[in-house]
Amino acid sequence: MEQNYSMPLIGDQAPAFQAVTTQGIINFPEDYKGKWVILFSHPADFTPVCTTEFMTFASMAEEFKALNTELIGLSVDSLYAHIAWLRKIKELEWKGMKDIEVKFPLIEDIKMDVANKFGMIQSQSTTQAVRAVFVIDPKGIVRTILYYPASMGRNFDEIKRIIIALQKADKEGVATPADWRPGQDTIVPPPGSCGTAKQRMDSQDDDNYCLDWFLCFKKEKKQ
Ligand code: BEZ
Repeated sequence: MEQNYSMPLIGDQAPAFQAVTTQGIINFPEDYKGKWVILFSHPADFTPVCTTEFMTFASMAEEFKALNTELIGLSVDSLYAHIAWLRKIKELEWKGMKDIEVKFPLIEDIKMDVANKFGMIQSQSTTQAVRAVFVIDPKGIVRTILYYPASMGRNFDEIKRIIIALQKADKEGVATPADWRPGQDTIVPPPGSCGTAKQRMDSQDDDNYCLDWFLCFKKEKKQ
């Protein structure tokens, strides 16, 4: 059977879809207007790494809600497999997480309709999705794409850091340096002219400082 491997890239409009999920039918993007969305896939239900990922993501769901961010999971499994797996997850205890209820929708994608739209199936020899993460902004634009191999569980603190960094960039017109954490100084985007470069070097103060004309920082205000 011929597969369609197309996928949206950063800056593209995320493909629209309707899907059956563990929380009922969802329509994307209509149901998510004005919200950030993390659409992520996993290889299969009842697999060990995926189970630890769901426990972790579900236990952080309120932190994402506070960032105006909704989670949507997906695998090429049936709705009934999803329901059985989420019920089992509630019975498990790991790293202090227990009684975990996965309240975000998990898409049933037996026909791989959604997975193929997002390039989540990356080999013709398998129906398993890779560990993909699409961070989509409130205008439906793909802002970040992550792919992890099946053997490696994702870092959900990093996914949260991505949301915070993108929201910061959008709100303040700044960029974020290597290993940036919330509360740290941000970067002023590169100057577009010789005049701006000179002006930045000449007007440094407590709030804006430069290591050189092309590497200027904005001081983060202490809360
Ligand atoms: C897992 O979730 O444990 C897993 C899934 C597919 C391949 C390898 C590991």
